[in-house]
Amino acid sequence: MEFENAIELIEIEKSFGATRALQGATLRVRRGSIHALIGGNGAGKSTLLKILDGVYPAGSYHGTIKIDGSTVTIRSPRDARLLGIGYVPQEISIVESLSVAENIFLGNVGFRNAPFVSPSELRRRANDLLSELRIDLDPKAPAAILSGSERQLLMIARALALNPTVIVLDEATARLTEHEADNLARLVRFWRDLGLACVFVTHRLREVESLADRVSILRDGRIVAEFERGCFSYNRIYEAMIGDDRRSDRKVDAPRTLGAESIRVEGLTIPHPRRSSRNVVENVNLHAREGEILGVAGLVGSGRSALLSAIFGRLPYSGRITIQGRIASIRSPREARRARIGHLVEDRGSLGLLFNLDIRANVTLASLARVSRFGLVDRAQETKIAEAFRRALSIRTPSTDRSIDSLSGGGRQKVLLARELAADPDILLLDEPFQGVDVASKADIRDIIRRTADQGKTVVVVCSETADLLEIADRIVVLARGRIVDHMKMTEFSESRVVRASVNEDHGKRL
Ligand SMILES: Nc1ncnc2c1ncn2[C@@H]1O[C@H](COP(=O)(O)OP(=O)(O)OP(=O)(O)O)[C@@H](O)[C@H]1O
Ligand SMILES: [Mg+2]
Repeated sequence: MEFENAIELIEIEKSFGATRALQGATLRVRRGSIHALIGGNGAGKSTLLKILDGVYPAGSYHGTIKIDGSTVTIRSPRDARLLGIGYVPQEISIVESLSVAENIFLGNVGFRNAPFVSPSELRRRANDLLSELRIDLDPKAPAAILSGSERQLLMIARALALNPTVIVLDEATARLTEHEADNLARLVRFWRDLGLACVFVTHRLREVESLADRVSILRDGRIVAEFERGCFSYNRIYEAMIGDDRRSDRKVDAPRTLGAESIRVEGLTIPHPRRSSRNVVENVNLHAREGEILGVAGLVGSGRSALLSAIFGRLPYSGRITIQGRIASIRSPREARRARIGHLVEDRGSLGLLFNLDIRANVTLASLARVSRFGLVDRAQETKIAEAFRRALSIRTPSTDRSIDSLSGGGRQKVLLARELAADPDILLLDEPFQGVDVASKADIRDIIRRTADQGKTVVVVCSETADLLEIADRIVVLARGRIVDHMKMTEFSESRVVRASVNEDHGKRL
């Protein structure tokens, strides 16, 4: 008879120096089930999953791992793959110089009875896999041009290329819109029905409610609660996770008094990097005022991120951008900073964090003028700023002089946001500010964004979770296929209208 549990992680203890990331965590995942692993930023979720994947090898932690009832030793990710574990890590790691197909089979070719595979065979296999997964990616496309969500989908395809029996998704939906997350959810249910065990980490509690057969809640390195389907609710999960009843507040604040128009974008067009027949963004007009939070909705691939990148001078565009009444010709991030614009990027891996610098240097990177005297960085001033943000955003670390590597996914996201806030720009472009942060931190970030607007700054925010966007924005424009297809005032806000506008216009293209 088959063993009921596909995997068991028993009494796992793992420390990083003085940080006790896991303190006897036990997780059992049944075969043919979907299991959600939930917890605040820094609770230990990724650490536990990395142990299962062999990223942290046997010997670097205490505890036992069983697969199908037998104790196993996992010394490397390769061991984990041989044991049928398909792992999608929280941080994206793709090789930009390789194609989609090559990335999918990276390190996998020759893995099982395939010593040599020709490039065309590789593409054919990639094509088969992608269409089976209904993932809309071109196997020949260079990975460098993929957007954040496409990179995420590529990571999922790579983990599934070896037909695993256990699927581990560490915040795989953090970079996807709800529509794409729904498609992924359909796939996960399909795998479950085939008998696979699926473990997923998410901060979107609604996903847990709709998808999970069982939920385990991790807090301070221990499982503090478990619920079966039917027995969990948003409130119960939230309480177990946070340990008190600090609820996120709903939007009640009165509309802000708005100042003068601070930014106007006219006829903005961003050419496609490879296809001359298609523009990534086409003829976009928008404006925002001082003290205003403008939300930009749309599906992944609709041009939201490109729009922000162009305004910040990262992408070539045609059209006119006016800042504080003056025509601005911003052609580089440097010029954008000089025009007092800030940009929180969606991809914190390749564009965002500098992994060879510590946390405080990463926080003050965009505001060196404020922390330097006579060309020298004033470490005390730098520490002061970093510490203030550590408190305001509850960044979980023993000290801000630690390396960025030592932070959990949510912690890294908060450092990037802190950097943009520390630079104190007049116009703040935020691409997915809530990516990977837990529900309590979400409220902190919301507060900080609102306070920024209250000071008369302009905030333009892209956010894939419509509910979050409706909650933070004063006004919303919806992008689809690079064009603005709808805009609404706060009194007209509705989730269905946003979704309808984004999906209708974008029909047929999605995965
Ligand atoms: N390589 C490392 N070196 C030092 N400390 C680490 C390292 N990796 C994780 N930690 C610490 O271990 C704790 C657990 O981190 P982990 O990444 O597992 O959290 P998480 O639950 O996945 O959080 P998030 O929701 O933010 O992704 C945190 O305090 C983190 O700072
Ligand atoms: Mg994590």
